[in-house]
Amino acid sequence: MKKHKLASRVEAISPFQVMAILERAKALAAQGEDVIHLEIGEPDFVAVDAVRDAGIDAIQQGKTGYTSATGLPELKKAISDDYANRYQVKVAPERIIVTPGASGALILMASLMVESDDEVIMPDPCYPCNRHFLVQTGAKAKLLETDAESAFELDLDTLSNHWQENTSGVWLASPSNPTGAVLSREYLSKAWTKVQSLGGHLLVDEIYQGLVYEGEDFSALSISDDIFVVNSFSKYFAMTGWRLGWLVVPEWAIEGATKLAQNLFISAPTVSQYAAISAFKPEVMAECEARRESLNRRRLTLLSGLKKIGLPVVAPAQGAFYVYVDVSKVTDDAMLWCLALLESEKVALTPGADFGVKDAHKYVRFAYTCDEDRLQEALMRIARFMS
Ligand SMILES: Cc1ncc(COP(=O)(O)O)c(C=O)c1O
Repeated sequence: MKKHKLASRVEAISPFQVMAILERAKALAAQGEDVIHLEIGEPDFVAVDAVRDAGIDAIQQGKTGYTSATGLPELKKAISDDYANRYQVKVAPERIIVTPGASGALILMASLMVESDDEVIMPDPCYPCNRHFLVQTGAKAKLLETDAESAFELDLDTLSNHWQENTSGVWLASPSNPTGAVLSREYLSKAWTKVQSLGGHLLVDEIYQGLVYEGEDFSALSISDDIFVVNSFSKYFAMTGWRLGWLVVPEWAIEGATKLAQNLFISAPTVSQYAAISAFKPEVMAECEARRESLNRRRLTLLSGLKKIGLPVVAPAQGAFYVYVDVSKVTDDAMLWCLALLESEKVALTPGADFGVKDAHKYVRFAYTCDEDRLQEALMRIARFMS
């Protein structure tokens, strides 16, 4: 019998270390243990009522067929209006390609702009799936070392030293997963000038847009129409399972992106698209804003609590719902420390190794996706564990 073998690009995907944490956390919960989950990058809110109602309406009215490949025109118009209202930037609806989550947008982007054998530059640490999306197209990520002192930002002054014939572009994210750091307008403008002068493309993942507590909440689209931007309904609108995101492309890439969208996905989930039109209603936005304020209170609680127990936060946690913490004073292996903390105090965190290579063993990511009382309880347990 023929021996089956998976394609080598599957081998290139290293399993996330947090999976071991998740598995163990589930097993402990099944034994009746009270596990505090600070490892999951998912809001603990659900989609606002009006959005869920709109989804139910769409199902009841049988609006369940495919949509056009780049998304419902009403939804694209609503997204475009939101850019104008909240971010004072003009984005023609035709430039918006609605996708199955930001994941779909990143997959589309990898096929749209990156040749096989090309490299895409990203900061180390960054969102880990990016490098795996590239591998699927035969390309690869080139992670450039960053450091805590410069908020894990790519050093733009040395970018040209790393640029090669096969460098396709640079992918950044703001606010960042795992650090929560927000890129400034000045930094992004400089990044765009540099990348352009080197002849590459620039993608900015803005999936945590709206969840900014310090610094300017703006879109890279206000810097140039030629920057690619990824976004999603998963985080600010708490619609993770609805699988809906979008990619904004320059005018000259609309045709190519449409062809790819038709072939890769046919269309994004229809019920989710009808529901998402309601996400921009004033009452829904008001609820999302109230949630943002509550996330900010949690962030402040966590930051002051971590300081008290002597765990330094290494990047300015200005956005998203993450804090990146240096645990090197208490361990030389963050993964082992996470496992031991879970066993002994039932607090689950994500080890830095899931996001990068350089110094990853020193860091852990906290996601403040539970209420303040639970955060206080988690801090108390961590302090007890450390003592
Ligand atoms: C930076 C970043 N980009 C993209 C995604 C994918 O999000 P989704 O496909 O749910 O929109 C995530 C999910 O956590 C993320 O953190």
